[in-house]
Amino acid sequence: MLHAFLPVPQNRGLSPTRLRESPVCRWRFFVIIPRMFGKTQTIWPLLVLLGVCLFGLTGQSVFGEPTDGSAAETETNTNAIAMPAVPGTRLPADDRTQDGWAVTLSPLSPPAQTISELFYLILGIMVVIFLVVGTTMGVLIFRFRASRHKTDGEPPQIYGSKPIELAWTLGPAIIVFVLFLVTARSIFEIRSTTAPPDAVEVEVIGHQWWWEFRYKKSGVVTANELHVPVSSDGTRRPVYLKLTSADVIHSFWVPQLAGKTDLFPGRENKMWFEPSQAGWFIGQCAEYCGTQHAHMWLRVKAEREDEFKKWVADQQKPAVLDAAVNAGRNLFLSNACANCHTIRGTHAKGVFGPDLTHLMSRETIASGIQLNNKENLTQWVQDPQTIKEGCRMPDMKLTSDSVEKIVAYLLTLH
Ligand code: CUA
Repeated sequence: MLHAFLPVPQNRGLSPTRLRESPVCRWRFFVIIPRMFGKTQTIWPLLVLLGVCLFGLTGQSVFGEPTDGSAAETETNTNAIAMPAVPGTRLPADDRTQDGWAVTLSPLSPPAQTISELFYLILGIMVVIFLVVGTTMGVLIFRFRASRHKTDGEPPQIYGSKPIELAWTLGPAIIVFVLFLVTARSIFEIRSTTAPPDAVEVEVIGHQWWWEFRYKKSGVVTANELHVPVSSDGTRRPVYLKLTSADVIHSFWVPQLAGKTDLFPGRENKMWFEPSQAGWFIGQCAEYCGTQHAHMWLRVKAEREDEFKKWVADQQKPAVLDAAVNAGRNLFLSNACANCHTIRGTHAKGVFGPDLTHLMSRETIASGIQLNNKENLTQWVQDPQTIKEGCRMPDMKLTSDSVEKIVAYLLTLH
Protein backbone atom coordinates (compact mmCIF):
# COMPACT_ATOMS: atom_id res chain seq x y z
CA MET A 1 0.00 0.00 0.00
CA LEU A 2 3.02 2.25 -0.29
CA HIS A 3 1.57 3.82 -3.41
CA ALA A 4 -1.14 5.29 -1.24
CA PHE A 5 1.46 7.60 0.24
CA LEU A 6 3.06 8.74 -2.98
CA PRO A 7 2.78 12.43 -3.89
CA VAL A 8 -0.35 13.77 -5.53
CA PRO A 9 -0.20 13.80 -9.33
CA GLN A 10 -0.42 17.22 -10.85
CA ASN A 11 -3.96 17.89 -12.07
CA ARG A 12 -3.84 21.50 -13.14
CA GLY A 13 -5.44 20.75 -16.46
CA LEU A 14 -8.62 19.27 -14.94
CA SER A 15 -11.79 21.13 -14.09
CA PRO A 16 -12.95 21.06 -10.44
CA THR A 17 -15.66 18.54 -11.32
CA ARG A 18 -13.26 16.27 -13.14
CA LEU A 19 -10.81 16.63 -10.31
CA ARG A 20 -13.42 15.52 -7.79
CA GLU A 21 -14.07 12.42 -9.83
CA SER A 22 -10.46 11.74 -10.69
CA PRO A 23 -9.49 8.20 -9.65
CA VAL A 24 -5.79 8.95 -9.62
CA CYS A 25 -5.81 11.26 -6.64
CA ARG A 26 -5.42 9.45 -3.34
CA TRP A 27 -5.29 12.43 -1.06
CA ARG A 28 -8.94 13.34 -0.70
CA PHE A 29 -9.05 12.81 3.03
CA PHE A 30 -5.88 14.68 3.80
CA VAL A 31 -6.68 17.54 1.48
CA ILE A 32 -10.32 18.09 2.35
CA ILE A 33 -9.85 18.46 6.07
CA PRO A 34 -7.38 21.36 5.87
CA ARG A 35 -9.77 22.95 3.39
CA MET A 36 -12.52 23.01 5.98
CA PHE A 37 -10.53 25.79 7.54
CA GLY A 38 -10.32 27.63 4.23
CA LYS A 39 -7.31 29.87 4.09
CA THR A 40 -6.60 29.61 7.77
CA GLN A 41 -4.52 26.51 7.27
CA THR A 42 -2.12 27.77 9.87
CA ILE A 43 -4.55 26.31 12.39
CA TRP A 44 -3.00 22.88 11.86
CA PRO A 45 0.47 23.68 13.18
CA LEU A 46 -1.27 25.36 16.11
CA LEU A 47 -3.34 22.26 16.83
CA VAL A 48 -0.22 20.09 16.70
CA LEU A 49 1.49 22.48 19.10
CA LEU A 50 -1.50 22.32 21.43
CA GLY A 51 -1.38 18.52 21.31
CA VAL A 52 2.30 18.50 22.18
CA CYS A 53 1.67 20.89 25.10
CA LEU A 54 -1.18 18.73 26.42
CA PHE A 55 0.97 15.65 26.11
CA GLY A 56 3.77 17.44 27.91
CA LEU A 57 1.47 18.31 30.79
CA THR A 58 0.10 14.78 31.04
CA GLY A 59 3.58 13.32 30.79
CA GLN A 60 4.79 15.53 33.57
CA SER A 61 1.98 14.51 35.88
CA VAL A 62 2.67 10.87 35.15
CA PHE A 63 6.43 10.87 35.37
CA GLY A 64 6.97 13.68 37.85
CA GLU A 65 9.20 12.98 40.84
CA PRO A 66 7.49 11.74 44.01
CA THR A 67 7.34 14.33 46.70
CA ASP A 68 8.21 14.39 50.33
CA GLY A 69 5.17 16.60 50.66
CA SER A 70 7.03 19.57 52.04
CA ALA A 71 5.17 22.83 51.83
CA ALA A 72 7.55 24.19 49.20
CA GLU A 73 6.57 21.43 46.81
CA THR A 74 2.89 21.75 47.42
CA GLU A 75 2.34 24.20 44.59
CA THR A 76 4.30 22.42 41.92
CA ASN A 77 3.89 18.73 42.55
CA THR A 78 1.83 17.09 39.85
CA ASN A 79 2.45 13.48 40.74
CA ALA A 80 -0.10 13.65 43.50
CA ILE A 81 -3.68 14.51 44.04
CA ALA A 82 -3.81 17.86 45.67
CA MET A 83 -4.96 17.48 49.23
CA PRO A 84 -5.98 21.00 50.11
CA ALA A 85 -4.30 21.16 53.46
CA VAL A 86 -5.72 23.42 56.08
CA PRO A 87 -3.11 26.14 56.61
CA GLY A 88 -0.54 25.12 59.15
CA THR A 89 -1.50 21.48 59.04
CA ARG A 90 1.24 18.99 58.48
CA LEU A 91 -0.02 15.47 58.73
CA PRO A 92 1.86 12.80 60.65
CA ALA A 93 4.49 11.08 58.59
CA ASP A 94 5.91 7.59 58.32
CA ASP A 95 8.77 5.96 56.42
CA ARG A 96 6.78 5.78 53.22
CA THR A 97 5.40 9.14 54.06
CA GLN A 98 2.69 10.59 51.88
CA ASP A 99 2.50 13.40 54.34
CA GLY A 100 -0.75 14.91 53.18
CA TRP A 101 -0.51 13.70 49.59
CA ALA A 102 -2.20 10.82 47.88
CA VAL A 103 0.41 9.64 45.44
CA THR A 104 -0.93 8.15 42.25
CA LEU A 105 0.88 5.60 40.12
CA SER A 106 3.08 4.42 42.91
CA PRO A 107 1.16 1.23 43.68
CA LEU A 108 1.81 -0.76 46.83
CA SER A 109 -1.04 -3.28 46.63
CA PRO A 110 -2.09 -5.79 43.93
CA PRO A 111 -5.24 -4.01 42.65
CA ALA A 112 -3.37 -0.70 42.40
CA GLN A 113 -0.52 -2.50 40.63
CA THR A 114 -2.90 -3.95 38.03
CA ILE A 115 -4.50 -0.55 37.43
CA SER A 116 -1.11 1.10 37.10
CA GLU A 117 0.09 -1.49 34.54
CA LEU A 118 -3.10 -1.02 32.55
CA PHE A 119 -2.58 2.73 32.63
CA TYR A 120 0.96 2.53 31.30
CA LEU A 121 -0.06 0.09 28.55
CA ILE A 122 -2.84 2.39 27.36
CA LEU A 123 -0.58 5.42 27.67
CA GLY A 124 2.04 3.63 25.55
CA ILE A 125 -0.48 2.82 22.82
CA MET A 126 -1.73 6.42 22.87
CA VAL A 127 1.79 7.77 22.58
CA VAL A 128 2.45 5.59 19.52
CA ILE A 129 -0.83 6.71 17.92
CA PHE A 130 -0.04 10.32 18.74
CA LEU A 131 3.40 10.07 17.17
CA VAL A 132 2.14 8.33 14.03
CA VAL A 133 -0.77 10.72 13.51
CA GLY A 134 1.19 13.82 14.53
CA THR A 135 4.18 13.00 12.32
CA THR A 136 2.01 12.14 9.32
CA MET A 137 -0.01 15.29 9.75
CA GLY A 138 3.08 17.43 10.19
CA VAL A 139 4.67 16.03 7.02
CA LEU A 140 1.49 16.45 5.00
CA ILE A 141 0.87 19.99 6.17
CA PHE A 142 4.25 21.16 4.94
CA ARG A 143 4.57 18.85 1.94
CA PHE A 144 1.23 19.85 0.41
CA ARG A 145 0.64 23.34 1.62
CA ALA A 146 -1.15 25.68 -0.78
CA SER A 147 1.83 27.75 -1.88
CA ARG A 148 3.43 24.75 -3.57
CA HIS A 149 0.32 23.49 -5.32
CA LYS A 150 -1.42 26.53 -6.69
CA THR A 151 -4.57 25.50 -8.54
CA ASP A 152 -7.56 27.56 -9.49
CA GLY A 153 -10.16 24.96 -8.59
CA GLU A 154 -10.44 22.35 -5.91
CA PRO A 155 -7.48 20.15 -5.10
CA PRO A 156 -7.37 16.62 -6.51
CA GLN A 157 -10.05 14.31 -5.15
CA ILE A 158 -9.80 10.58 -4.67
CA TYR A 159 -12.32 7.87 -4.06
CA GLY A 160 -12.14 4.30 -2.88
CA SER A 161 -8.57 3.56 -1.96
CA LYS A 162 -8.89 0.07 -0.53
CA PRO A 163 -5.53 -0.01 1.26
CA ILE A 164 -6.25 3.25 3.08
CA GLU A 165 -9.84 2.30 3.93
CA LEU A 166 -8.67 -1.06 5.24
CA ALA A 167 -5.83 0.48 7.21
CA TRP A 168 -7.96 3.00 9.05
CA THR A 169 -10.74 0.50 9.73
CA LEU A 170 -8.73 -2.50 10.83
CA GLY A 171 -6.07 -0.55 12.74
CA PRO A 172 -8.44 1.08 15.25
CA ALA A 173 -10.57 -2.08 15.44
CA ILE A 174 -7.55 -4.13 16.49
CA ILE A 175 -6.43 -1.49 19.01
CA VAL A 176 -9.90 -1.31 20.55
CA PHE A 177 -10.08 -5.10 20.72
CA VAL A 178 -6.70 -5.32 22.48
CA LEU A 179 -7.72 -2.59 24.95
CA PHE A 180 -10.98 -4.43 25.60
CA LEU A 181 -9.16 -7.69 26.35
CA VAL A 182 -6.59 -6.21 28.74
CA THR A 183 -9.21 -4.10 30.51
CA ALA A 184 -11.47 -7.12 30.98
CA ARG A 185 -8.55 -9.14 32.33
CA SER A 186 -7.67 -6.35 34.77
CA ILE A 187 -11.26 -6.09 35.97
CA PHE A 188 -11.35 -9.79 36.74
CA GLU A 189 -7.99 -9.57 38.50
CA ILE A 190 -9.03 -6.80 40.85
CA ARG A 191 -12.60 -7.96 41.34
CA SER A 192 -13.42 -8.71 44.93
CA THR A 193 -14.28 -12.35 45.50
CA THR A 194 -14.99 -14.13 48.77
CA ALA A 195 -12.64 -13.09 51.55
CA PRO A 196 -10.05 -15.76 52.48
CA PRO A 197 -10.14 -16.95 56.12
CA ASP A 198 -7.20 -14.81 57.28
CA ALA A 199 -8.53 -11.63 55.68
CA VAL A 200 -9.33 -8.55 57.74
CA GLU A 201 -12.94 -7.71 57.02
CA VAL A 202 -14.21 -4.21 57.58
CA GLU A 203 -17.55 -2.57 56.96
CA VAL A 204 -17.06 0.96 55.64
CA ILE A 205 -19.90 3.44 55.99
CA GLY A 206 -19.67 6.78 54.23
CA HIS A 207 -21.17 9.77 56.03
CA GLN A 208 -21.31 13.46 55.19
CA TRP A 209 -18.30 14.00 55.71
CA TRP A 210 -16.43 11.26 57.45
CA TRP A 211 -15.75 7.53 57.29
CA GLU A 212 -16.98 4.93 59.73
CA PHE A 213 -15.05 1.66 60.00
CA ARG A 214 -16.56 -1.42 61.71
CA TYR A 215 -14.26 -4.45 61.95
CA LYS A 216 -16.18 -7.67 61.46
CA LYS A 217 -14.29 -10.14 63.66
CA SER A 218 -12.93 -7.90 66.43
CA GLY A 219 -15.96 -5.62 66.70
CA VAL A 220 -13.73 -2.55 66.69
CA VAL A 221 -15.45 0.66 65.58
CA THR A 222 -13.42 3.67 64.56
CA ALA A 223 -13.48 6.61 62.17
CA ASN A 224 -11.40 8.08 59.34
CA GLU A 225 -8.22 6.15 60.12
CA LEU A 226 -8.28 2.53 59.03
CA HIS A 227 -5.65 0.30 60.60
CA VAL A 228 -4.71 -2.84 58.68
CA PRO A 229 -1.88 -5.36 58.83
CA VAL A 230 0.82 -5.20 56.19
CA SER A 231 1.36 -8.20 53.95
CA SER A 232 4.94 -9.39 53.91
CA ASP A 233 6.55 -12.00 51.66
CA GLY A 234 5.46 -15.01 53.64
CA THR A 235 2.13 -13.86 54.99
CA ARG A 236 -0.68 -12.39 52.98
CA ARG A 237 -3.16 -10.36 55.00
CA PRO A 238 -5.65 -9.01 52.49
CA VAL A 239 -8.21 -6.46 53.63
CA TYR A 240 -11.77 -6.97 52.39
CA LEU A 241 -14.14 -4.05 52.59
CA LYS A 242 -17.92 -3.98 52.38
CA LEU A 243 -18.96 -0.46 51.56
CA THR A 244 -22.24 1.32 52.05
CA SER A 245 -23.44 4.83 52.76
CA ALA A 246 -25.56 6.45 55.44
CA ASP A 247 -26.67 9.33 53.24
CA VAL A 248 -25.47 10.17 49.73
CA ILE A 249 -23.05 8.51 47.31
CA HIS A 250 -19.39 8.64 48.33
CA SER A 251 -16.37 6.93 46.83
CA PHE A 252 -13.55 5.18 48.68
CA TRP A 253 -10.23 5.88 47.03
CA VAL A 254 -6.73 5.27 48.29
CA PRO A 255 -4.73 5.44 45.02
CA GLN A 256 -1.74 3.42 46.19
CA LEU A 257 -3.93 0.55 47.39
CA ALA A 258 -6.80 0.13 44.93
CA GLY A 259 -9.14 1.84 42.52
CA LYS A 260 -12.24 3.80 43.46
CA THR A 261 -15.31 2.05 44.82
CA ASP A 262 -18.55 3.92 45.29
CA LEU A 263 -20.61 3.76 48.49
CA PHE A 264 -24.35 3.79 47.91
CA PRO A 265 -27.10 4.04 50.50
CA GLY A 266 -29.01 0.75 50.61
CA ARG A 267 -26.44 -1.19 48.61
CA GLU A 268 -23.29 -3.05 49.50
CA ASN A 269 -20.19 -2.83 47.32
CA LYS A 270 -17.02 -4.80 47.86
CA MET A 271 -13.35 -4.21 47.33
CA TRP A 272 -10.03 -5.50 48.61
CA PHE A 273 -6.41 -4.45 48.89
CA GLU A 274 -3.22 -5.79 50.35
CA PRO A 275 -0.58 -3.21 51.33
CA SER A 276 2.93 -4.51 50.74
CA GLN A 277 4.60 -1.80 52.76
CA ALA A 278 4.00 -0.35 56.19
CA GLY A 279 3.04 3.29 56.59
CA TRP A 280 0.25 5.75 56.07
CA PHE A 281 -1.71 5.77 52.84
CA ILE A 282 -3.70 8.86 52.08
CA GLY A 283 -7.00 8.73 50.26
CA GLN A 284 -9.94 10.93 49.51
CA CYS A 285 -13.65 10.63 48.89
CA ALA A 286 -13.82 10.58 45.10
CA GLU A 287 -17.49 11.29 44.49
CA TYR A 288 -18.93 14.73 45.04
CA CYS A 289 -21.07 14.40 48.16
CA GLY A 290 -21.79 17.94 49.31
CA THR A 291 -20.11 21.00 50.74
CA GLN A 292 -17.27 19.27 52.55
CA HIS A 293 -16.58 16.57 49.96
CA ALA A 294 -13.07 17.93 49.42
CA HIS A 295 -12.42 17.58 53.15
CA MET A 296 -13.54 13.97 53.33
CA TRP A 297 -10.08 12.55 53.60
CA LEU A 298 -9.23 9.02 54.33
CA ARG A 299 -6.17 7.54 55.98
CA VAL A 300 -5.08 3.93 56.02
CA LYS A 301 -2.32 2.77 58.31
CA ALA A 302 -0.64 -0.48 57.34
CA GLU A 303 1.34 -1.85 60.27
CA ARG A 304 3.20 -4.94 61.38
CA GLU A 305 1.05 -7.83 62.56
CA ASP A 306 2.01 -7.37 66.23
CA GLU A 307 1.32 -3.63 66.09
CA PHE A 308 -2.01 -4.28 64.44
CA LYS A 309 -2.97 -6.87 67.08
CA LYS A 310 -2.05 -4.44 69.85
CA TRP A 311 -4.07 -1.71 68.21
CA VAL A 312 -7.12 -4.02 67.97
CA ALA A 313 -6.74 -5.07 71.62
CA ASP A 314 -6.57 -1.41 72.72
CA GLN A 315 -9.57 -0.48 70.63
CA GLN A 316 -11.64 -3.28 72.12
CA LYS A 317 -11.29 -1.88 75.62
CA PRO A 318 -14.02 0.40 76.96
CA ALA A 319 -13.27 4.08 77.36
CA VAL A 320 -10.83 5.23 80.01
CA LEU A 321 -12.62 6.36 83.16
CA ASP A 322 -10.59 9.12 84.74
CA ALA A 323 -12.11 10.71 87.84
CA ALA A 324 -10.05 13.85 87.31
CA VAL A 325 -12.20 14.79 84.31
CA ASN A 326 -15.60 13.93 85.79
CA ALA A 327 -16.83 17.48 85.16
CA GLY A 328 -16.08 17.26 81.47
CA ARG A 329 -17.57 13.78 81.17
CA ASN A 330 -20.79 14.89 82.87
CA LEU A 331 -21.03 17.89 80.57
CA PHE A 332 -20.50 15.64 77.55
CA LEU A 333 -23.15 13.18 78.71
CA SER A 334 -25.70 15.80 79.69
CA ASN A 335 -25.38 17.80 76.50
CA ALA A 336 -26.45 16.77 72.99
CA CYS A 337 -22.96 15.29 72.42
CA ALA A 338 -24.16 11.92 73.71
CA ASN A 339 -26.98 11.79 71.15
CA CYS A 340 -24.57 11.74 68.24
CA HIS A 341 -21.41 10.08 69.56
CA THR A 342 -20.72 6.76 71.19
CA ILE A 343 -18.28 6.41 74.05
CA ARG A 344 -18.33 2.77 75.10
CA GLY A 345 -18.55 2.36 78.86
CA THR A 346 -20.84 5.40 79.17
CA HIS A 347 -24.45 5.95 78.17
CA ALA A 348 -23.34 7.95 75.11
CA LYS A 349 -24.58 5.70 72.32
CA GLY A 350 -25.23 8.05 69.42
CA VAL A 351 -24.31 6.79 65.97
CA PHE A 352 -24.70 9.94 63.90
CA GLY A 353 -21.13 11.09 64.49
CA PRO A 354 -17.85 9.24 64.91
CA ASP A 355 -17.28 6.82 67.81
CA LEU A 356 -15.13 8.68 70.33
CA THR A 357 -14.26 5.78 72.66
CA HIS A 358 -10.59 5.94 71.65
CA LEU A 359 -10.55 9.38 70.07
CA MET A 360 -6.98 10.11 71.13
CA SER A 361 -5.66 7.01 69.36
CA ARG A 362 -6.35 8.83 66.12
CA GLU A 363 -3.83 11.26 64.71
CA THR A 364 -6.33 13.54 63.03
CA ILE A 365 -9.84 14.90 63.48
CA ALA A 366 -12.44 16.21 61.04
CA SER A 367 -11.81 13.36 58.59
CA GLY A 368 -8.09 13.86 58.32
CA ILE A 369 -7.88 17.61 57.80
CA GLN A 370 -6.66 18.66 61.25
CA LEU A 371 -4.17 17.20 63.67
CA ASN A 372 -5.77 15.74 66.74
CA ASN A 373 -4.40 17.96 69.50
CA LYS A 374 -5.75 20.08 72.31
CA GLU A 375 -5.76 23.29 70.32
CA ASN A 376 -7.70 21.88 67.36
CA LEU A 377 -10.07 19.90 69.59
CA THR A 378 -10.87 23.07 71.50
CA GLN A 379 -11.65 24.94 68.32
CA TRP A 380 -13.72 22.00 67.08
CA VAL A 381 -15.84 21.71 70.24
CA GLN A 382 -16.20 25.49 70.47
CA ASP A 383 -17.54 25.72 66.92
CA PRO A 384 -16.86 22.97 64.35
CA GLN A 385 -18.14 25.26 61.62
CA THR A 386 -14.95 27.34 61.87
CA ILE A 387 -12.92 24.28 60.82
CA LYS A 388 -15.37 22.51 58.55
CA GLU A 389 -18.07 24.86 57.41
CA GLY A 390 -21.36 23.12 56.75
CA CYS A 391 -20.44 19.99 58.70
CA ARG A 392 -23.25 18.19 60.49
CA MET A 393 -22.02 19.06 63.97
CA PRO A 394 -23.55 22.37 65.00
CA ASP A 395 -22.07 25.08 67.15
CA MET A 396 -23.29 23.95 70.58
CA LYS A 397 -22.98 27.47 72.03
CA LEU A 398 -20.98 26.15 74.95
CA THR A 399 -19.24 28.51 77.31
CA SER A 400 -15.44 28.59 77.18
CA ASP A 401 -15.36 26.92 80.57
CA SER A 402 -17.55 24.04 79.37
CA VAL A 403 -15.48 23.65 76.22
CA GLU A 404 -12.31 23.47 78.28
CA LYS A 405 -13.77 20.78 80.55
CA ILE A 406 -15.14 18.69 77.67
CA VAL A 407 -11.82 18.88 75.84
CA ALA A 408 -10.00 17.86 79.02
CA TYR A 409 -12.27 14.81 79.12
CA LEU A 410 -11.78 14.02 75.41
CA LEU A 411 -8.02 14.21 75.85
CA THR A 412 -8.20 11.24 78.25
CA LEU A 413 -9.88 8.97 75.69
CA HIS A 414 -6.80 7.04 74.60
CU1 CUA B 1 -17.97 11.78 50.41
CU2 CUA B 1 -17.34 13.06 48.52
